[in-house]
Amino acid sequence: ADVELLRAQLLRWYDENQRELPWRTLAVTESDLNIRTYAVWVSEIMLQQTQVSTVIDYYNKWMKRWPTVQHLSSATLEEVNQMWAGLGYYSRGRRLHEGAQKVESELEGQMPRTADSLLKQLPGVGRYTAAAVGSIALGQVTGAVDGNVVRVLCRLRAIGADSTSPAVTEALWGLANTLVDPERPGDFNQAMMELGARVCSPRGPVCSQCPVRSHCHSFRTVHREKEKNARKP
Ligand code: ADE
Repeated sequence: ADVELLRAQLLRWYDENQRELPWRTLAVTESDLNIRTYAVWVSEIMLQQTQVSTVIDYYNKWMKRWPTVQHLSSATLEEVNQMWAGLGYYSRGRRLHEGAQKVESELEGQMPRTADSLLKQLPGVGRYTAAAVGSIALGQVTGAVDGNVVRVLCRLRAIGADSTSPAVTEALWGLANTLVDPERPGDFNQAMMELGARVCSPRGPVCSQCPVRSHCHSFRTVHREKEKNARKP
């Protein structure tokens, strides 16, 4: 019941506060799974090392030029690199191009349909990106733990241990998988990212605006300290 309340509170906050980003609207309205998966894949690769505000223009231009995986597969690497100019980490664009050619030549033009097969089939797609595309584009029920989500989950459960250690990483993925909303996994994961980017920020988290602070162990601890200090003469 506690988990259900957290989901409901987080998703309501997301519905009211989310930024309208082009890959979100497309993923919602586009009924063709191949196009949705391709579009969210492109967006997630661009977002790997580049901030949202920069990605928007690049993403829109890219999708206009290569609206489907077939279009991308027939582009040249030179064209891809030109399109990528300014984004940095060019290997990301090269891997998108390689991936598209593989989908065309080996997978009969069909994008993989699960997080597992995205991870196995596409170059440059790791555990997080596979889970993000699987949940956002395909509705697969899986958590997706990126840097922002690591921070949110560590605070939520007051985990002080090294969050890059393999044991903590596994624990965080386990936690994300139990928290994710089975009805709206993609929205839930994007809400966690959005919460990390906008409210539960690295240095100054704005707990007063947090929709899930009543579930947060770090908030409770800080809150109690404050009350204790206020009671002191
Ligand atoms: N960072 C990575 N993926 C994202 C997404 N779908 N929305 C916002 N920020 C992100």
